[in-house]
Amino acid sequence: MNAFIALAVIVTAVVTHARPTPHPLTLVSRTFNDSDIYANWPTYDELPLHPSFPTRAAWGVWGDNDQLGALNHIRNTTILAAKNEIQLGRAINLNLELSMPDPPLNPVRRPLIHAIQPRAGYQDDVITLNTQISTQFDGLKHFPYSTNNSQSTYQFYNDLITFDDIVSAEGTTVLGIQNAAQKGIAGRGVLLDWAGWMESKNATFDVFSNTTISPSELDEVAAWQGLNATSFFKPGDFLVLRTGFTQQYDALPAHEQAILPYRADADATFLGTEASGDLLRWLWEKKLSLVGSDNPAFEALPNTGEVIDGDMRSLHQVFIGGWGMSIVEYLNLEELAKTCHELGRYSFFFTIQNLNVVGGIASPPTALAIV
Ligand SMILES: *[C@@H]1O[C@H](CO)[C@@H](O)[C@H](O)[C@H]1NC(C)=O
Ligand SMILES: *[C@@H]1O[C@H](CO)[C@@H](O)[C@H](O)[C@H]1NC(C)=O
Ligand SMILES: *[C@@H]1O[C@H](CO)[C@@H](O)[C@H](O)[C@H]1NC(C)=O
Ligand SMILES: *[C@@H]1O[C@H](CO)[C@@H](O)[C@H](O)[C@H]1NC(C)=O
Ligand SMILES: *[C@@H]1O[C@H](CO)[C@@H](O)[C@H](O)[C@H]1NC(C)=O
Ligand SMILES: *[C@@H]1O[C@H](CO)[C@@H](O)[C@H](O)[C@H]1NC(C)=O
Repeated sequence: MNAFIALAVIVTAVVTHARPTPHPLTLVSRTFNDSDIYANWPTYDELPLHPSFPTRAAWGVWGDNDQLGALNHIRNTTILAAKNEIQLGRAINLNLELSMPDPPLNPVRRPLIHAIQPRAGYQDDVITLNTQISTQFDGLKHFPYSTNNSQSTYQFYNDLITFDDIVSAEGTTVLGIQNAAQKGIAGRGVLLDWAGWMESKNATFDVFSNTTISPSELDEVAAWQGLNATSFFKPGDFLVLRTGFTQQYDALPAHEQAILPYRADADATFLGTEASGDLLRWLWEKKLSLVGSDNPAFEALPNTGEVIDGDMRSLHQVFIGGWGMSIVEYLNLEELAKTCHELGRYSFFFTIQNLNVVGGIASPPTALAIV
């Protein structure tokens, strides 16, 4: 343990929890100074803060009761500094149409229901939405660590809730999407256009395959865009990765879009980032508030996990369950990428406003980039 890391031991007797815990935990948290938040910031090698925590978890890094996770990187000064990204006043919508992809790519998820309700003198409408079918912001109740997908092994961010809390009659508001709706999410976004880089090399790729993107490729994409991935990112940034998903999906004939959800399990693959310690290290050191992409999961699917530090882990597990870092998926990055290439500039101001649903799991992000 690095001498700069000041640890406060909060609780040791986890047996007092009236809930099943996969391992006895020793809850420790970082002491930090609100006006100097990175003063004793743990490096990737110093994660987790206690060996009883799951793989590279950032539990306790923002305090043992924290519910905001990586959104804590967004400070007032982060938003204020990002105003310099607005130079032309062009606002670009990053959301897909809420009904897209249609049909949903996961066949157990129902399509959007949109009903018009005519009344005397005015019209209402009603939407019924599975928040995982279109552009979406995964909240912290969505994805815990688990060792074999078994609910008894679930471990949510900061160990604040269990599966039973979520599905109990009373439910729980802890780690709900209202936190990410009420926080006020804005700041600086950075686009890495992996698909554009591949096209620049005349390299072909299939977004419906299990091809993975490595961190060294992300460095090469940054270099191709004229950026240094080590020094370009600033704390609080929102990294958006274009994999070419929207472009290839839109180019499919309707009958192929219709059949996509029905590929057999082993073939139900989607291109995305690799699940590896190298990728986690690459991201952790950038102090990002969020990651996002145009594909279904940021990481490649199926995300059954890869061995990271001895356990099978997906990026979803470590990002959401471990770092409290949400993932924004199915973004529409086509116009943003075109604009960035036109301007030769890959950072922008962004805002996200999630639905203020108390206890919710995910939300359409209503994401906007402004250059
Ligand atoms: C917090 O950090 C600020 C700025 O570095 C410093 O002036 C202040 O003394 C620190 N407070 C504590 C309690 O350490
Ligand atoms: C920072 O922003 C928050 C939320 O808008 C506000 O409550 C707080 O007073 C602000 N802090 C400063 C120093 O302006
Ligand atoms: C998953 O792991 C837990 C804890 O080791 C064990 O109790 C459970 O039986 C396992 N479930 C499956 C389906 O393998
Ligand atoms: C890619 O293909 C185009 C058209 O055939 C060609 O002009 C260009 O030189 C190729 N670029 C590379 C990097 O191979
Ligand atoms: C990708 O799919 C191929 C063919 O199904 C398989 O042989 C390979 O192991 C898979 N690779 C990964 C990284 O899952
Ligand atoms: C990128 O920036 C880092 C940190 O400033 C520096 O050490 C490195 O040499 C730079 N890389 C390139 C290719 O310029």
